Amino acid sequence: MNDVLVVHGGAPLHGNIRVRGAKNLVSKAMVAALLGDSPSRLFDVPAIRDVEVVRGLLELHGVRVSDGATEGELVLDPANADRADADEINVHAGSSRIPILLCGPLLHRLGHAFIPDLGGCNIGGRPIDFHLQALREFGAIVDKTASGMEITAPNGLHGTKLQLPYPSVGATEQVLLTAVKAEGVTELRNAAVEPEIIDLICLLQKMGAIIKVHTDRVIEIEGVKRLGGYTHRPIPDRIEAASWAAAALATKGDVFVEGARQAEMMTFLNTYLSVGGAFEVDDSPVGGGIRFWHPGGELRAVVLETDVHPGFMTDWQQPMVVALTQARGLSIMHETVYERRLGYTRALGSMGATIQVYRECLGGTPCRFGRRNFLHSAVIAGPSKLHAAELMIPDLRAGFSHLIAALAAEGTSQVHGVSLINRGYEDFEGKLAALGAHVERG
Ligand code: EPZ
Repeated sequence: MNDVLVVHGGAPLHGNIRVRGAKNLVSKAMVAALLGDSPSRLFDVPAIRDVEVVRGLLELHGVRVSDGATEGELVLDPANADRADADEINVHAGSSRIPILLCGPLLHRLGHAFIPDLGGCNIGGRPIDFHLQALREFGAIVDKTASGMEITAPNGLHGTKLQLPYPSVGATEQVLLTAVKAEGVTELRNAAVEPEIIDLICLLQKMGAIIKVHTDRVIEIEGVKRLGGYTHRPIPDRIEAASWAAAALATKGDVFVEGARQAEMMTFLNTYLSVGGAFEVDDSPVGGGIRFWHPGGELRAVVLETDVHPGFMTDWQQPMVVALTQARGLSIMHETVYERRLGYTRALGSMGATIQVYRECLGGTPCRFGRRNFLHSAVIAGPSKLHAAELMIPDLRAGFSHLIAALAAEGTSQVHGVSLINRGYEDFEGKLAALGAHVERG
């Protein structure tokens, strides 16, 4: 299919769309099914590329993945889990970062794991040193090969005391997925505590895991000998919800995001109000969600810094920056999670936005990237009238923000590489149509 979306911008988005289970929980939940000795059932799974990649990887390892009785339901049966052929696994090399999380479950199940070279968005170095260090401390042996890593645990996996240098989401998940069946107790300090991680912990607890979340980012896991399957409905995708919320603001529109929940979005909602957006929470158990809209008048500039939870998510940054191009005054965005996540602002500049990026830590506390030659702070001067442009999507979240900019701009934009958006946004073209956007395939 032609990978270009033609966007006729300048019209507000109006209408209702629905978000399903969070991409960044669903993929890990699918991996966790490998730890059970009976089938697991996962509801509300979005039809996105990342889910297909994890499904493919699990199927290569003998896990039977089938569609359940309801829409978006997956049944994962690990009864026949087995070693997979390295060449076949390598077909998935470069397509996702999830394979690294298969290590613990595969080691527990088969005593061996082969992990291909990883992919994911190009937003920084994205090393896996924390993961490998943790696996070694559990007793695993990691051998790098030409095409990936062979990981074994000849003496089993044993609980340990760990401290992460930074509260990494993936490394925290690595420790959880390994420690739940390791012998003895594991104590993890400086853990990430994102809502998706707490949801993963809930799911593991349903399987029989014993996990205590203490204050100050300390998680204690008591290893158990066996785990059963789970039945789980994931938390909603708060990144997708925020993306549509920012789109409503940038286009002066009004969007009801069914499924969005206030609790996981509190930090985003505070910012939304500060900027001048409006929202209304509908708590109904069925059909509830959050309505986001531009109440008229001028948006206000803000100073923002991305951070680990409970801070402002790095994945909310790009859509919010597009909305900030419409705010009066100077906004500051200091990106402290990834060192190279502002490259997309050049494209916004080509559309008439006034954005300057800096190496310095602006507006907040110094971060790991200050004085290290990373352009990781942005100053956005607004409001700017955006005009149409020819855009190339660089990565998932930046890609969606290009789309928002094209929707907010006057004129017709050509957005290339849109299929990348389907990695994390289910049926985004159908949702755009439901919101009255004027788009068509080029
Ligand atoms: C997860 O990535 C998400 N991906 C990201 O979403 C999200 O941006 C990120 O968490 C932060 O919330 C998935 O869940 C699949 P990290 P992850 O480990 O786990 C450094 C999206 O668009 N680090 O918390 O890979 C790392 O370089 C994606 O949905 C090390 O230095 O992120 C980064 O600077 C993009 N060594 C920081 O930690 C390591 O071994 C945070 O990364 C691991 C991480």
